[in-house]
Amino acid sequence: MSKLSLSILATIIISVMLFSSCSKNSTSPAPTLYDSLGSTALVIDPAHSGTMIEKGRLTIRSVVDSTIFVIAADTNINVFFKVLLAEVTSGNTSGFQALSKNLTDFICVGTGAKNFTYGGKSMHDAHDPTTNNRMNGKAQSDDFDSFEQDLTKGAAKNGVPSTAQVFVSLAKIVESLRSQVVQM
Ligand code: HEM
Repeated sequence: MSKLSLSILATIIISVMLFSSCSKNSTSPAPTLYDSLGSTALVIDPAHSGTMIEKGRLTIRSVVDSTIFVIAADTNINVFFKVLLAEVTSGNTSGFQALSKNLTDFICVGTGAKNFTYGGKSMHDAHDPTTNNRMNGKAQSDDFDSFEQDLTKGAAKNGVPSTAQVFVSLAKIVESLRSQVVQM
């Protein structure tokens, strides 16, 4: 093959490679917040031996569970969780498990996870004592502030500081729900 043919062939190959990598980039979806939290990569579930869990879901569930514990000790808002706390104190963790799952599903879906669905109440109904008898009273705006502070502590306990971009994005989603939770 002549030098000219070789250089034409090389140009064609490089052009095809460039075109295919560019077209791949333009069609692959932008990473979601769920991807930043760990994505769909499967890891061993530390809470259930022998089972695997998506790393994104594990991060979210860990933050959720830590936050529930922070809230339980927070006298500013733990009165709202009176039913839950009475159950746990008597050794019944079924309500805790259900809340952990629903909150985890809710945040997974809200951050862009594809493999989970949220089957709980709407944000309005979950926080209206007339439609959720586990909600002890209506939350006010300063209660919501306390909830956000407790979430910040729950995240920090799992290596997600409030300064991390992923937390800032998550906090924006939470803040966007204030008017559905605060119904005064
Ligand atoms: C954006 C912020 C919040 C989100 C995303 C959220 C999410 C949820 C979800 C998913 C549930 C479960 C609903 C169900 O089981 O059908 C729930 C229940 C509840 N939430 Fe919230 N919540 C938020 C803020 C708050 C605040 C500010 C308070 C009170 C200060 C609160 C108090 C409760 C209580 C007491 C329950 C019932 C717990 C139980 O099952 O015993 N939430 N919330």
